[in-house]
Amino acid sequence: MRRKLVAGNWKMNGNLAANSALLNELVAAVGHGASCDIAVCVPAPYLAQCQQQLVNTAVTWGGQDLSAHEAGAYTGEVAATMLADFGSHYVVVGHSERRAMHAESNALVAQKTLRALRCGLTPIICVGETLAEREGGQTTAVVGEQLEAVLAVLESADLTRLVVAYEPVWAIGTGKTATPDMAQEVHATLRGLLAARDPVAAAGTRILYGGSMKPDNARELMAMPDIDGGLIGGAALKSVDFLAIIAATSIQ
Ligand code: 13P
Repeated sequence: MRRKLVAGNWKMNGNLAANSALLNELVAAVGHGASCDIAVCVPAPYLAQCQQQLVNTAVTWGGQDLSAHEAGAYTGEVAATMLADFGSHYVVVGHSERRAMHAESNALVAQKTLRALRCGLTPIICVGETLAEREGGQTTAVVGEQLEAVLAVLESADLTRLVVAYEPVWAIGTGKTATPDMAQEVHATLRGLLAARDPVAAAGTRILYGGSMKPDNARELMAMPDIDGGLIGGAALKSVDFLAIIAATSIQ
């Protein structure tokens, strides 16, 4: 049985005061034990704040991107080792906003995944199709290519240390959600690709759904057999919504 993971992706939101309130509310509600794994993926400047407020609680934290390089003359980039220095557990890799706005290729996402793993971070690898791709019947091909590019550079042993997130681009921040059946179909495809590489590891790999997941649709989505949690954008910024999604993991 895969333990569910609810991860917030704060994107470029937050400030010290608002973060402090939000993190306190989360910790007050979930304390030191929860029925699922919980994480917040925050802008890099706030990792120290997370470390300070979340150490020894049930809420883990991480970054939203990392450099493919180890260190050196890469102005503005953040190394995996720097994320790890602040106690990060996770890092989001290949979010569609980075693929679209920063021209991140499948090959670059693969290199970043390797870098994260080598530094002991758990990468949350995002895949997903645009509306035009879905309407053109390309969903399976697009997400397959995105995942295969990453699998191609990994050792089999690494598969147990990945999280995959299916985030249909047309559902992100739009209020449109994939139906549970639509999402399940893609999740099953992704698990099939993982299984083709290593069936035992694939059975344990968590595949999250992301894209307008909210308290009112989380339970239905997370009841599907291959949906192992959520990667939450907007609803992760309000403790009451994020906590309701966390609670939805245990009401199946
Ligand atoms: P929303 O939940 O705001 O649609 O964002 C999803 C997302 O992009 C998480 O990474």
